[in-house]
Parts: sequence; structure tokens; C-alpha cells
Amino acid sequence: MTERTIVAPPQVAGANYVGSQKCSECHDKVTSKFHNATHAKLSAPGIKGEIGCEACHGPASIHVKSGGGTGTIVNPGASPETCFQCHLDKQGEFNLPFSHPVMNGKMGCSDCHSPHEGSAVAEGGTNFDPVNSSCVKCHVSQGGPYVFEHEASREGCVACHNPHGSMNAKMLKARNANLCLQCHFQQQTSAGVILIGGRDHAPFLSRGTCWSAGCHEAVHGSHVSSSLRF
Ligand code: HEC
Ligand code: HEC
Ligand code: HEC
Ligand code: HEC
Ligand code: HEC
Ligand code: HEC
Ligand code: HEC
Repeated sequence: MTERTIVAPPQVAGANYVGSQKCSECHDKVTSKFHNATHAKLSAPGIKGEIGCEACHGPASIHVKSGGGTGTIVNPGASPETCFQCHLDKQGEFNLPFSHPVMNGKMGCSDCHSPHEGSAVAEGGTNFDPVNSSCVKCHVSQGGPYVFEHEASREGCVACHNPHGSMNAKMLKARNANLCLQCHFQQQTSAGVILIGGRDHAPFLSRGTCWSAGCHEAVHGSHVSSSLRF
């Protein structure tokens, strides 16, 4: 696990760091699974030992002394500001023209990432199924089941979408045929013939994207066509 020094941890006037151990006295549900969390081992300038919890919640001495008094600790809630302190690049991604509505507070990072346990990628894995299942909680129809599923989704919705934001509509990783050609190779067999999936696509490629113009519009999966049409 990387150790990272916080640039500007959340502040609580007059309070000092007490360390994560202390939190378990009153928040054992949150702390019990924290030991294997991505964020369990963080440090702050001038502080000895790890302060994982307080890296996001701010120094807690007053909070602890007052037995959890209101207004004594930072609760980031759905605000991304705490996360941006260390993941500044994500602020840039969420300001791209197409992104999830995190900047206006309609969604938070924690809708997809769990701050308190396991890998911060929701439901605990770099494994693709858990990642997809967090997407289809909200985007039910793209999850199928379909009669003809597009196997691409087994590699994750993130094979085609950047969930943090993109220059392209629908947060696509590429705006044109390049999106599909990452996996479906073109093969030039003879002059004027471009095979994709065993079929000559030369006449189609100039018409637009692969998923428009009456072609593979059912890009997530189809109930009627194995070629993902309609
Ligand atoms: C002496 C008991 C006690 C200790 C120790 C303690 N807390 Fe709390 N904490 C509470 C109580 C009581 C509440 C309010 C009820 C609740 O949300 O569970 C609370 C609430 C919170 C909240 C939610 C605040 C809000 O406004 O929504 C956060 C975040 C929090 N604690 C973090 C921590 C962290 C981090 C530590 C360790 C550094 C810690 N607490 C240690 C008792 C404690
Ligand atoms: C990576 C940042 C991060 C770390 C590290 C972190 N938290 Fe949190 N915590 C959050 C966020 C974000 C929320 C708000 C979640 C929400 O509302 O969706 C939260 C909410 C809470 C709450 C409010 C009750 C709840 O579950 O919603 C408590 C209590 C709490 N955290 C305690 C802790 C304790 C104790 C630790 C260390 C064991 C810790 N947190 C570590 C980001 C963090
Ligand atoms: C104090 C600094 C700090 C804060 C605040 C912070 N992170 Fe992190 N985060 C890290 C470090 C360090 C890593 C380990 C990987 C790295 O070096 O980038 C990490 C990794 C991650 C990962 C990669 C997941 C994995 O398991 O590989 C995600 C997702 C993530 N953080 C989300 C968040 C979210 C969401 C918040 C706000 C609730 C947040 N972080 C707040 C420092 C921080
Ligand atoms: C719509 C869901 C979603 C939201 C909202 C979201 N993320 Fe992510 N994030 C993901 C997914 C999915 C991955 C894994 C990407 C992959 O495997 O290619 C990821 C990966 C990451 C990573 C590790 C890999 C990387 O790109 O550096 C970090 C750090 C991270 N997110 C931080 C954040 C922060 C900070 C926020 C809030 C400002 C946030 N995320 C909001 C879905 C989301
Ligand atoms: C907590 C609910 C939630 C989760 C989880 C979620 N999304 Fe979203 N998603 C939204 C909302 C809200 C919008 C914005 C809809 C709008 O602006 O009309 C959106 C928009 C989108 C869009 C653009 C839709 C359009 O018509 O422009 C895509 C693509 C998308 N999400 C993909 C994903 C992927 C991939 C994941 C998983 C990594 C994911 N979402 C996880 C709620 C969610
Ligand atoms: C093979 C690439 C690919 C994969 C994998 C993929 N998508 Fe998409 N997605 C697209 C394309 C292309 C569009 C744009 C369709 C259009 O404009 O008609 C899109 C559009 C969307 C939209 C906007 C509404 C719509 O249907 O037009 C949402 C929401 C969405 N995808 C969510 C998801 C989710 C959730 C997953 C994972 C279960 C996923 N996508 C997997 C390519 C993909
Ligand atoms: C992450 C890899 C990946 C991406 C990206 C991808 N596909 Fe696929 N696609 C597959 C796999 C794997 C199959 C199943 C094996 C096969 O037929 O090649 C498949 C099958 C298909 C089929 C069905 C072929 C048949 O008749 O059985 C069509 C049509 C298709 N993809 C179109 C697209 C389009 C359009 C895009 C771009 C929006 C796209 N694919 C992007 C991996 C991908």
C-alpha cells in the first residue's frame, strides 16, 4: 500500500489527531472492515502513525472528548471535496463536458466507491462483475438480461465508458468506430474489402458510427438480433 502525505487534510478548529484505533470504541461497525481498505494506511504531515479515518474526517480529539458531539467532525457526505484533496486528477475528469452529476451534488463518489472497506472500487473488486453490478443498480436496462448479449460487457461497462467523465457524449471512450475497433479487428483481404467479424464492412464504415445509421444500435444487447441490431 502506498503511503501518501495529505496536502490539506480537512480541518477542525482546535482539534488534534487521535488515530484510527480510537474510533473503534464507538464506531466498531465502520472500523471492523477497515483494516483491508484501500484508505486504511494514510499519513499526514507532522503526525506519527496512521490516521486513516481522520484523513477524510479531520482531527477528532474534540469529537472523541465530547462523545460525538454535533459539529465536531467532518462528514464529507456526497461532497467530492475531501476526495479531490488527494485525487486532484478526478476533479479534472468530472469537469469534462460529459460526466456523472457529482459536481452539482446529485451523486457522490461513494455511490460507486466504498470508503470504509476493501478496494475502494465498489463491492470490493477489480473483478468486472462487481464493477458492472454497481452500474446496473442505477442503469437497470443496460444490464440485461438479453437474448443476445454483447460479450463486451463482460469486460466491464468501463470497456466503453469512462465513468468519471469524457469529452465524448455518453461518456464514451471514443466517439467513433475506434471504440469498437479496439476489440473487433479490421482485415483487408483484397482491394476495397474490409472484413470485420467475417463480413465486408467497406460500404458501411463511411456512414457514421457503428451504432447508428441502422447498424448495431442495440449495442448493449438485443432481444431480436445476434448482430445487435434494433
Ligand atoms: C466516544 C465515542 C466516539 C468516538 C471515540 C468517536 N466517535 Fe464519531 N461519533 C460518535 C457519536 C455518538 C456520533 C453521532 C451518532 C452517530 O452518527 O453514530 C458520531 C458521529 C460521527 C460521524 C458522523 C458525523 C455527522 O455529522 O454526520 C463521523 C464522520 C464520525 N463520528 C467519525 C469518527 C472518527 C473518524 C473517529 C475516530 C477518529 C470517531 N468518530 C470517534 C461517537 C464517537
Ligand atoms: C476515503 C475517505 C474516508 C475514510 C478513510 C473514512 N471515511 Fe468515513 N466517511 C467517508 C464518506 C465519504 C462518508 C459519507 C458517506 C455517504 O454519506 O455516502 C463517511 C461517513 C462516515 C460516518 C457516518 C456514518 C455513515 O456510515 O454514513 C462515520 C461514522 C464514519 N464515516 C466513520 C469513519 C471511520 C471510523 C473511519 C476509519 C475506520 C472512516 N470513516 C474512514 C469517507 C471516509
Ligand atoms: C489523504 C489522501 C486521500 C484521500 C482524502 C482520498 N484518497 Fe483515495 N486513495 C489514496 C491513496 C494513497 C490511494 C492508493 C492508490 C494511489 O496511490 O493512488 C487511493 C486509492 C483510491 C482508489 C483506488 C481503488 C483501489 O482500491 O485501488 C479509489 C477508487 C479512491 N482512492 C477513491 C477515493 C474516494 C472516493 C475518496 C473520498 C471519499 C478518496 N479516495 C479520498 C489517497 C486518498
Ligand atoms: C459512476 C460511478 C463512479 C463515480 C461516481 C466515481 N467513480 Fe471512480 N471509478 C469508477 C470505476 C468503475 C472505476 C474503475 C475503473 C476501471 O477499472 O477502469 C473507478 C476508479 C477510480 C480510481 C482508481 C483508478 C483511477 O482512475 O485512478 C480512483 C482514484 C477513483 N475512481 C476516484 C474517484 C473519485 C475521487 C470520485 C468522485 C469525485 C469518483 N471516483 C467517482 C466509478 C466511479
Ligand atoms: C447512483 C446511481 C448511478 C450509478 C451507480 C451509475 N450511474 Fe451512470 N448515471 C447516473 C445519473 C444520475 C446520470 C445522469 C443522467 C442524466 O443526466 O440524465 C448517469 C449518466 C450515465 C451515462 C450517460 C447517459 C446519457 O444519456 O448521456 C452513462 C453512459 C452512464 N451513466 C454510465 C454508467 C456506468 C458505466 C456506471 C458504472 C461504472 C454508472 N453509470 C453508474 C446514475 C448512476
Ligand atoms: C461495447 C461498448 C459498450 C459497453 C461495453 C457498454 N456500453 Fe453503454 N453505450 C455504448 C454506446 C456506443 C452508447 C451510445 C448509444 C447511442 O448513442 O445510441 C452507450 C450508451 C449508454 C447509456 C446511455 C443510454 C443509452 O442506452 O443510449 C447508458 C446509461 C449506458 N450506455 C450504460 C452502460 C452500462 C451500465 C454498461 C455496462 C453494463 C455499458 N453501458 C456497457 C457502448 C457500450
Ligand atoms: C471490450 C471488447 C469489445 C468492444 C469494445 C466491442 N465489442 Fe463487440 N463483441 C465483443 C466480443 C468478445 C464479442 C463476441 C465474439 C465475437 O462475436 O467477436 C462481440 C460481439 C459483437 C457483435 C455480434 C457479432 C455476431 O454477429 O455474433 C456485434 C455486432 C458487435 N460485437 C458490435 C460491436 C460494436 C458496434 C462495438 C462498438 C460500439 C463493439 N462491438 C465493441 C467484444 C467487444
